[in-house]
Amino acid sequence: MEISKRRLPWLKTPRFRELRVSLATRLTLSFLAVIIISSLIFTIVGVQIISHLIISEAEERVRNDLNAARYIYDNQIAYVQQAAEFTATRTFIEDILQGNLTASEKEEMIWFKANEGLDVLTITDSNGVVVLRTSNPGLKGDSQRNQVLVGAVLRTRTPASGTTIVPAEELSNESPILAERAFIELVNTPMAKPRPETQETTGMMLMAAVPILDDNGDLIGVVYAGKLLNRNYEIVDEVKRTVFQGVVYEGKDIGTATIFQDDVRISTNVLNSDGSRAIGTRIAQNVYEQVVVQGKQYIGRAYVVNDWYIAAYEPINNIDGSTIGILYVGILEQKYTDINNRASFIFLGITLAGVILSIFITLLISRNISTSISSLASAAKQLANGNLEAKAKKTSNDEIGELADTFNLMATALKDRDDKIKEFTKKKIMESERLALIGQLSANVAHDLNNPLQGIVTYSYLLLEDESSKPEAKDNLQKIVVQANRCRDIIRGLLDFSRQKKPDKTLCNVNNLLQACISLVEKQAQFQNIKVTINLDENLPMVILDPSQVERVFLNLIINAAEAMDGNGQLTLSTQLNHENNSVEIKVQDTGHGISEENMDKIFDPFFTTKETGHGVGLGLAISFGIVKEHNGNISVESTLGKGSIFTVSFPLTKVATGIENGS
Ligand SMILES: Nc1ncnc2c1ncn2[C@@H]1O[C@H](COP(=O)(O)OP(=O)(O)O)[C@@H](O)[C@H]1O
Ligand SMILES: [Mg+2]
Repeated sequence: MEISKRRLPWLKTPRFRELRVSLATRLTLSFLAVIIISSLIFTIVGVQIISHLIISEAEERVRNDLNAARYIYDNQIAYVQQAAEFTATRTFIEDILQGNLTASEKEEMIWFKANEGLDVLTITDSNGVVVLRTSNPGLKGDSQRNQVLVGAVLRTRTPASGTTIVPAEELSNESPILAERAFIELVNTPMAKPRPETQETTGMMLMAAVPILDDNGDLIGVVYAGKLLNRNYEIVDEVKRTVFQGVVYEGKDIGTATIFQDDVRISTNVLNSDGSRAIGTRIAQNVYEQVVVQGKQYIGRAYVVNDWYIAAYEPINNIDGSTIGILYVGILEQKYTDINNRASFIFLGITLAGVILSIFITLLISRNISTSISSLASAAKQLANGNLEAKAKKTSNDEIGELADTFNLMATALKDRDDKIKEFTKKKIMESERLALIGQLSANVAHDLNNPLQGIVTYSYLLLEDESSKPEAKDNLQKIVVQANRCRDIIRGLLDFSRQKKPDKTLCNVNNLLQACISLVEKQAQFQNIKVTINLDENLPMVILDPSQVERVFLNLIINAAEAMDGNGQLTLSTQLNHENNSVEIKVQDTGHGISEENMDKIFDPFFTTKETGHGVGLGLAISFGIVKEHNGNISVESTLGKGSIFTVSFPLTKVATGIENGS
């Protein structure tokens, strides 16, 4: 990981990271990578398979062609044998053996030899001594006993035929022309096996020897016939004609055939670059090793004289079974290379067309996907900018379509919620306007009433203290004083509520404030039968607040609790640090009558009271709520009807106060 990053430092550069590649491009590129890689593999494998198929097809064909060539070759041997057999049964054969041959019969023999295309047609007596040599009538009386085929016939009295190597001397005995034909200058051939000789003087001959029998079936002589293969193109040209039908490919014979004597071309239609037959050139060493040394077929590519061929070679054996030459056929590789190239091109073309089609489809798909996503993104952007009417267009019936549906559902839900919030806020604003109006009104009324009321209180006191007043009047005056004081309380409450004084904040210990409040009310008659329990958190941090305002809140809650319990019950006061909200919490819990569900929402409203006239004004909680909010705090209530209520006040810890230990 480290190394690769170091090697590719541009990966870390901000420009690369910020590079924005669209989804469509990325999709297209990844698809493209897959398509190109797979078609590359497909093409390589495909082309390979095609060329393999073509090569094996060509090899199969050349193998068959070699069989055909072998058939033609063997036929030639059979033909030579037939000619010898025919001669052995001629009527004047006994004349020949007895040396009584007429000139015309001799003519006939010479004509027959030439007509049959034979190079040798010789008759010996029963000891193998030559009596007539048609190719060289002047020479006779020599023994041919040691010649393989003649020897075999003398021994077995049955015909023998095959391919043999004839020494130069023998050849010139048969005819000087033959020796001349057999003489071949070896041509230096690349890749051939090194050879010390520079010329070949022996000849390779198709030969047959047959017995001449008298009427009793006794052997009276031998006829042997032969065709010298050196520079005799009958066989190879027939192969070219019948097997390859003389087809020419780009100015060259498509198929060629050759007869090798050992490793030398002695009969061939493979041409040198000057157009002459490549007589005297030699076979590649590796082919020679396989065919002559190991006696096996060779099928495969071979460089023949000056072209590549798909070639087949097989050994030519003499009658003893040892390899003396090679039969070859080959098809010009160029043709198969061209077929292969053409097939590969077509294949490549198809693949390319496929790739282009795939790219087109890929572009279409990724464009489709990216438009769907773009539509979603633009709708989301509109939504983020506050247009809750924004809707995503559903363009497909897949996961993205589903996403668009979900998005639209979400947008609708958001709009509903927004509408509700707007309505709620509107209500709240109206409410607070109403409250403000009430406050204003109360303040005016209270202010205007305060002065005359002050007069009533003062003067009724004066009258009450006047000794001269009648006792009945004093009674009424007493009532006036009480009612007037009540009016004054109401007015004070109204003034407090409406004035909304800014708190005068200082660092305070909430525990101490609570303690002060409880000691203020404890002694009162109302609390005589109330059991007060105080659980204060010793380590409560100090909080910045207005002590007198907060004291009023605590007093209101404590007095409400006592009133709810009708002076009889359990009052629990506690403080604690709420770590979650990072605030100080004060709880006032009573075992009073509790608050009904329907009143729960109203208790903080100004002038809401459940108490009978003369006992409650309904401003205590409203004022307390205002004070707590002014301190950024919170006031909440939990209540069970008939069991009691818990009022919880919380003040946030300010940074200054946090961590300050509970002071004295
Ligand atoms: N501790 C409590 N238990 C039950 N009801 C309560 C408690 N505190 C307040 N209330 C209800 O809330 C109403 C409003 O209280 P408050 O604003 O203090 O006005 P007042 O005490 O003058 O009625 C009370 O009339 C009462 O019904
Ligand atoms: Mg009250």
